[in-house]
Amino acid sequence: MGDIASSMPVMVASENGRRGMLAAMALLREGGSALDAVELACRIVEDDPDDHSVGYSGLPNALGEVELDASIMEGTMLRAGAVAAVQGYGRAITLARRVMEETPHVLVVARGAERLAAELGETPQEQRTEESLRRWRERFAERELTPGDAEPLRSVARALTRPINLQDKLHKAGRVDTLGTVNFIARDRRGALASAVSTSGLGWKYPGRVGDSPLIGAGNYCDDRYGAAACTGMGELAIRVATARSLVLYLKFGMSLAAAGREALRDLLTLDAPDGQYMNIVALTPAGEVAGFTTVPGKRYLYQRGDGRASPG
Ligand code: GLY
Repeated sequence: MGDIASSMPVMVASENGRRGMLAAMALLREGGSALDAVELACRIVEDDPDDHSVGYSGLPNALGEVELDASIMEGTMLRAGAVAAVQGYGRAITLARRVMEETPHVLVVARGAERLAAELGETPQEQRTEESLRRWRERFAERELTPGDAEPLRSVARALTRPINLQDKLHKAGRVDTLGTVNFIARDRRGALASAVSTSGLGWKYPGRVGDSPLIGAGNYCDDRYGAAACTGMGELAIRVATARSLVLYLKFGMSLAAAGREALRDLLTLDAPDGQYMNIVALTPAGEVAGFTTVPGKRYLYQRGDGRASPG
């Protein structure tokens, strides 16, 4: 740390993170911390009504309720905070940070997280929008179901979340991605790393379903000594093989970033994932190397450096 290369700010993000990354990079260039940068970047995506996979206007669960999951981690002391299945509050990432900084816990869920948000003075806000509810109703219609069906809700959620054909997913313009999530990982001028992940989770999920995003080790992990990783995609896969922590452990054991990513993908590919269930990983090392890995072709990620170099990867 301390040399020019290691103090160059660097960020990597999932491909829906462009606006957040631009604002966060400006903060990093001014000497802001990696933790502030990833929180800011996430909040911008959470507030975006046109992103239906994160925060405000996220896709609802099978009951038409928006439940948000998020986590944040800093790599110097390995502190982390997370919330899951939160209703009625946006900016889940800020709530996750407040769990980390203002409680003795790492993960607070559902009613407890909502109580905490109220105690901390966060402003409640309806997370559903006309558009997200329209998509929810449309999904029922596509499956020839109706909201409030007499079927057990688990059967309804199974029908609604059954993956669509992967070719359709990749090629049908405007198709809603029910697995969206946003990832940001940053290195600041001091060489500290931080990572943040936020999502409304799998669209049309069973109420209370929690994915990988708020689970430290599954969808998010950060350690200044070895690197950080974060995931988008079908959270159940990353949970089963602890993807983010595994990639960072592979780095710890001396693998290159490319080899560590390949090994994390190999773990995922051993699972019996149905067609349409995929996983993407973004990663950053303490030296500022970035990479993205995916179990499906055609997925991109974004990175930007303090010297202005930027790219979709
Ligand atoms: N990766 C987001 C989720 O599965 O909820």
